[in-house]
Formats: sequence, structure tokens, C-alpha cells
Amino acid sequence: MTAGTRPLAIGAALPRVDGPEKVTGSARYAYEQPPPGHPYGEPVYVHPLQADIARGRVDAIDTERANAVEGVLAVLTHRSAARLADTGDRELAVLQSDRVAFRGQFIGAVLADTPETARHAAALVSVDYAQEPHDTELLADHPGLYAPEHVNPSFETDTDEGDVDKAMAAAMVKVDRTYTTPMEHNNPMEPHTTVAVWHTSDDEAPDDEASAGSVAGASPEAPVRLTLYASTQGAHSVRKTLAPMFGLVPDQLRVVSPHVGGGFGSKGMPHAHDVLAALCARAVPGRIVKLAVTRQQMFSLTGHRTPTIQRVRLGADVAGRLDAVAHEVVERTSTVKEFAEQTACGTRMMYAAPHRRTTHRLAALDVPVPSWMRAPGEAPGIFALEVAMDELAEAAGLDPIELRVRNDPSADPETGKPWSGRHLVRCLAEGARHFGWQHRNPAPGARREGDELVGLGVAASTYPYYAPQGSRARVRYDGEGHWNVAIGAADIGTGSRTVLTQIAADALECPAASVTVELGDTRLPMATVAGGSAGTAAWGATVVAAAHAFRAAHGERPQPGAEAHGGAEAHPDTKRFAVHSFGAQFAEVRVDADTGEIRVPRLLGVFSVGRIINPVTARSQFIGGMTMGLSMALHEHSVLDHRTGHVVNHDFAGYHIATHADALGIEAHWLDEDDPHTNPMGARGIGEIGIVGCPAAIVNAVHNATGLRVRDLPITPDKLL
Ligand code: MOS
Repeated sequence: MTAGTRPLAIGAALPRVDGPEKVTGSARYAYEQPPPGHPYGEPVYVHPLQADIARGRVDAIDTERANAVEGVLAVLTHRSAARLADTGDRELAVLQSDRVAFRGQFIGAVLADTPETARHAAALVSVDYAQEPHDTELLADHPGLYAPEHVNPSFETDTDEGDVDKAMAAAMVKVDRTYTTPMEHNNPMEPHTTVAVWHTSDDEAPDDEASAGSVAGASPEAPVRLTLYASTQGAHSVRKTLAPMFGLVPDQLRVVSPHVGGGFGSKGMPHAHDVLAALCARAVPGRIVKLAVTRQQMFSLTGHRTPTIQRVRLGADVAGRLDAVAHEVVERTSTVKEFAEQTACGTRMMYAAPHRRTTHRLAALDVPVPSWMRAPGEAPGIFALEVAMDELAEAAGLDPIELRVRNDPSADPETGKPWSGRHLVRCLAEGARHFGWQHRNPAPGARREGDELVGLGVAASTYPYYAPQGSRARVRYDGEGHWNVAIGAADIGTGSRTVLTQIAADALECPAASVTVELGDTRLPMATVAGGSAGTAAWGATVVAAAHAFRAAHGERPQPGAEAHGGAEAHPDTKRFAVHSFGAQFAEVRVDADTGEIRVPRLLGVFSVGRIINPVTARSQFIGGMTMGLSMALHEHSVLDHRTGHVVNHDFAGYHIATHADALGIEAHWLDEDDPHTNPMGARGIGEIGIVGCPAAIVNAVHNATGLRVRDLPITPDKLL
């Protein structure tokens, strides 16, 4: 990318290119698909049936009364649903057996001509179960605890160096505490929806140019192409997972997802509702089938964050220099599918010590399937580590910033590799200045203003750099200065369509207004999932590679219609360097001395994340992540009734999320950086780091305000009384 005299698009505060479509309501989300003019007639609506036991078998399902309702087309059960070609993924093997593995699991579905009819008829289905005793309660000494083979996505389960126990016994200053975080649920604004249609030979969609394939062994009449309009973080990953389950080759399954109303990880992989929608559509070939997961249903079907029980031990000398760091985690997974949250992995690289240990132990319980929720691993794990660091600072009589500066490692303690850019100390220093850290009274409970106890807290933040390989992009010159860039990536509301436009503009040396980016469709070149804060890095590098391929093939004066494809190689430096983002999180809290009510008038973060592509969309990522951190600190808690396996607060009345009224003042800053070791943009990731460390900063501020140390999230007022 050369600057010349043309201003670079990267770094400009380009407003979202899809903003007008979104605010005028013309951006089409999954449930609003397909566009008008489709040939499928009136849609069919699905209302799922869910198990109301936590473990056992479906003995009998009486569908007679439901079937008798006018407008009902079919009632699907495990007996009547089509068989899947592959049932290896037991979260996705919907209606393939009579087993119930958690409360809320799909056991059937009603198809009707209106959503209301489907819902009404679903209530008329009666189910007999053979119930079995269930277990949903995570305990630190649960008898079923086991060590998984690895933790998400592929980290070692345990690490052990030196002799932590001996070092702890000898340490002059120490902390040995247990921190807990609750079950939490991803709640994107747009609930999960899937619209499905199995194509018959004469229902070609208006935009279908590909001809139908055929499945070996399938009868000539069998529908052999499926289209899913899904709310997903990765159209291509949905296709890759689901096509074999339906016995299809990839070209026979199209996934369309141009606009997505948030995901936070819960749309990172397909869930049972995607399969259920396709199974229902299979029962009415040639018709559009719409399935909208309700907010309440999301609490058992679309993923959640496991509760954690984390023992952290820190041992240091009198100067606060760490000699031992141990982080031992107990968490939960489901019986149908393992997800092992990588809770202690952040601790492996955050601070150095000669004696270090991290472990993860899981109990597989009769609960819904846990999955990715924004910064899986780092969000709960760095909470525990960074509260423990605050406790160590207190024990050592040190300022908590000074403690972190004294323990800032010059190389990655886990791998020994040099940092591509660890600027945590700069983040802490700049944050302290912006925030007014010098006004903090280190004595807990010492600052009272009227009825309020006021406290300031700090915590460090980090997130690894992931750059998944394999994405491809197509660049086409449309003539008269216009370019089209196509990549099967996702924009889940983060602004990826906008930043890819900027990246493409610089690579093609044209104004951003001359570039149109198309994404969210498996018709477009393969792209990796929007996850792990990796989208911009992975897809951006791909777009740059495709632009260079175009120049190499067509030169400076291309013919209209000329196109080229390209894909990026991994940057070789990502093997030689430890590449992580860092940040410093600051919080001011005010605690009502009588009621324990906590308000957070100020959050301030300073982040080191490589090059910022767009300050407007980046700021939204940071303050959005911090708001979610505030929410994790004070509100979010899914309450599982262990008698029934039911999440009792499964809606916004009971599951509290920070609102605008809670987010009083949130400021995000970043260092002016260009990481030469990552990708052509010099960027790392920004999507998840905002949540990391924020809950610890708030807990630490509450301690500074009140003298009370809350080690169990969320900090509800009762814990302060
Ligand atoms: Mo993110 S939780 O990797 O979508």
C-alpha cells in the first residue's frame, strides 16, 4: 500500500457503508428473507417442541390434537423427521433419537401457516417421558471432573513449571483465593433465525444461476438443493458443517447472511435450530420455512458461557516480584458435546514467574451445550487473575499499577518468544493520566461523598492474535473507476463491510467510494468465521492479496469485467513472535453506603491493538466490549434451577444486561501503532479485548470504595451489605 498523494482510506473515520440501509430498514436480516419476488409462495412457520425434563427418553408423543388444528401442516418428531446422513455432532443431530440430554432440547416441531397457529398447536402436543436422575450443578470437587484433551480452540489443558507449592510456601507476600463466575448467556439483539427451502426442479430462485446437482443414490424426485438464510457469523462454516449432515456436497447447500444483528460468539457455529429448520423444510419441499428462536428458547439452544470456579495463587517477594503463579480452573460442559473454555490460558502469558501452573477440569453435566461467548477464556480468566493481582498489590503495600509494571515480562513467559508489541506499561501509564489515577486514595473505604463510597480500580487486559488461514477473495473491475470485492465473510454489526472497503481501497489505490464489498453468502469465495477477533485481520489480508493478484494479472488499465482471485499466506512473523493485544482498564464506582447499589460513572480503557483501520467502528468495538464487561461485573447471571435443569431467568425481565442507563461514561483510547509482524494492515484484533479485564477493574474499584472484596460475579448489592 503506497500513500502517494492520495489520502489513505485506512485510518479514516468512514461512516458505515451499510448505515443508510440499516437505519431505513432495507437491510435484510435472516427472518426477512428471501427478498420479495421469490417463487416460493406463502411461508410455513415453525414452532419447536422442547423437552421439559433434563435427562431421559421420550416415551410417547401425542400429536393428534395439534394435527387437528386448522392451518397445521405437519408435526415433526424423532419418529417422523428425516434421517440425517451424519449424526456425529450430537448437538446438531436433531430429532434423530428419543434421548433427552438437557432441558429445552428439541423433541419436535409444529409447521403451520402462521406463527401463532404453530405456537398454539405446539401447546397441544403431549409428551410422556421416561425420566432419569439428572445433575446440573457444578461443584469444585465434582466426582465427574476430568481433564479434556485440549481447551478451546486447541490449547494445552495443563501447564506446569517449577514447584508452585514449594514456592508458595516460601513466598513473603501471597494470595490464595477462589474466584467464581456464573453461567452467562449471549444475547445479541437479533435472536437466532433460520429460513430454509429445499428446492424442487421447478422452483429456481430468481438469483439462482447454479444448476442443481445430484446426490448419488438419491431418487430423481428428491430435492437436492437446500438454501438457508441464517443469522450467522460464518456462512461458509455453516455450510461446511451442515452439508454432510444432509448428504449434500457443498455446492448443493447455499447459506445467505448479508446482515446479522450481533452474535458475540453464539452465531459462530451452527446450532440445533439451523438443522431443525432444514428438517422441517424437508417435509414441505419447495416452500419457505421460517424458524425464529425466541429469546426464551435461546437460553437452552444457542450457547452460553460455562460457570467457572477458579483458584488463583500468587507468591511474590517483598518488592512484589512474582515467584509463583497458579491458576486452576473447574468448569462445565454438556453431555452431548464438549466445549472446554480456555479460562487459564491468558494467565500463561500475562506475567512471568519461575514457578507456574495452570489446569482445566471439566464436569459433563445435563445442561445445554456451552460455547463461545465474547472472549471465551480471557473474559472469566483474566477477571480472576487481575483481581488476585489487586489483592497481591494490597498485601505488598504497592500501587496496583506499579505491581504490574514490576512484573511486565520482556518476552512471552510461555513460549520465550519476543512480543510483536507488548505495550501494557504504556497503556497503564496513559490510562492513569487520562483517568486521574493520582486522585485515588489507596486506603479502602476512605472516600465518602454524601451517601456514596467512591473508589477507583485498575486491571490489565489482553487478547491473543488469531489469523485463521484459508479465506479467498475476488476482485473485479466494473469499469468507470468502480470495483467489486467479493468475500464470503460476515458483518455481524461490527462494521467489517466498511473496514474491508477501506482496506480494498488502499490496496487498489482508489477512493473508498469506488469500492463495493459483497459478503455473507456461500456463493462468494470461502472465508473464515467472524470470531476470535480475527475477521478484519484474516479477511483484510485476503482482500489485499486478491487486489495484488488483480494488478499482477491485469496491470494498471484493466478492461471492465476483468477479475482475479487471491488468498493470503500466514505472515511468517506470527510464528516467530508472541502476538497479543493488550489494554489497561480503569473504573470509578460509587456505592450507596446504605443500599449497596453500585453505579459506574466512569470506565476508561487504553488499548494496544496494532493499526486501527477505522476509529469510528473501532471505538464502537471497544466501548461495546467494555459495556459487556460492566454487564458481566454487575448484572449477568443465568440462574439454573438444579431441581429441573431450567434457566429460570430466561428473558430480559430476569436476565439483566447493562443498558444505556448503566453505561454512564465510557471512554476508549488506543496507542498509535502499526504492528509489522501481523498482516499488510499492521492490525491485531479489537472485537473482544474490551470485555477483558473490565470486570476486574470494577471489582477492584468496589474494594477501593468499600474495603469489601467480591470474588463471585456478579457484584449484586447483597454482596456488599
Ligand atoms: Mo467471538 S466469542 O470468537 O465470536
